[in-house]
Amino acid sequence: MFMKRHVLTMREFSREEIDSVLDLAASLEPYARGRKSDMMAGKILALLFFEPSTRTRMSFETAMNRLGGSVINLGPAEGSSISKGESLADTVRVIGGYADAMVIRHPKEGSARLASQFSPVPVINAGDGAGHHPTQTLLDLYTIKKESHLENLSIALVGDLKYGRTVHSLAYALSLFGADITLVSPASLRMPDSIKSDLSSKGTCVRETCDLGEVINNVDVLYMTRIQRERFPDPVEYKKVARSYRITPEFMAGAREGLIIMHPLPRVDEIAPSVDETPHARYFQQSFYGVPVRMALLKMLIGGGC
Ligand code: NCD
Repeated sequence: MFMKRHVLTMREFSREEIDSVLDLAASLEPYARGRKSDMMAGKILALLFFEPSTRTRMSFETAMNRLGGSVINLGPAEGSSISKGESLADTVRVIGGYADAMVIRHPKEGSARLASQFSPVPVINAGDGAGHHPTQTLLDLYTIKKESHLENLSIALVGDLKYGRTVHSLAYALSLFGADITLVSPASLRMPDSIKSDLSSKGTCVRETCDLGEVINNVDVLYMTRIQRERFPDPVEYKKVARSYRITPEFMAGAREGLIIMHPLPRVDEIAPSVDETPHARYFQQSFYGVPVRMALLKMLIGGGC
């Protein structure tokens, strides 16, 4: 059902397709933990990262390496023909001749879609500006399924909901699962209206508040995000909201038992390091789950043996 298609936003995913990625990821988890495999032998994945990345880039690399495939990397733009003025379209056309799929992260919204128009192989959007980040969402859903529950889920998305691409993609996917969503952000960083109206047209129950304390007793998952400093046109505006939310063990004292805290990472100061030792913290497991989930997605897109 997946072979050769592009992965650009969560809007193109059905509930059944998401379930099939999560199921395959569960069966591949032992390989993510080190079991030997050459399922992807002979397959090549290209990485084109025009913005910083640790988890996304390295978990895609780990996924390919552990399944016996290979990775080629464009590296920093200064070291490639981009610095000579080559267009993204030409770069993508050329790399599409070398690899079986490509992963692209770029500061401009819509760039992965643009790349997909020129690529002969599947393009995976690993973040396009403040747009979308669908593979993060797949691993977020996998984490919720394993560490909490996807049915009758009550979740708060917290922080920078305006510029945060992870929460844009996640909100679309959660609406397919009938989740009850509370959006918690400073007034200036609210979820874009276009996304909120898409959600309500799908019958998803969405509430908005600035007050995190108000929701802590009522949710199963607290999904924290970083204020996206690099997307603010004016640094003064960033300073005004930079420390809007900070979770500490004291703050968590009133939380539901079983509540889990997630974060796509990197964190800045929205989760105190002392929270890592509480039973609520799941963000490091979450980043590990990027490996089996990306293994599953790659296998579904470009094939490879059993
Ligand atoms: C996120 C991103 O790049 O959008 N990081 C990630 O992929 N895990 C979140 C962020 O940078 O804040």
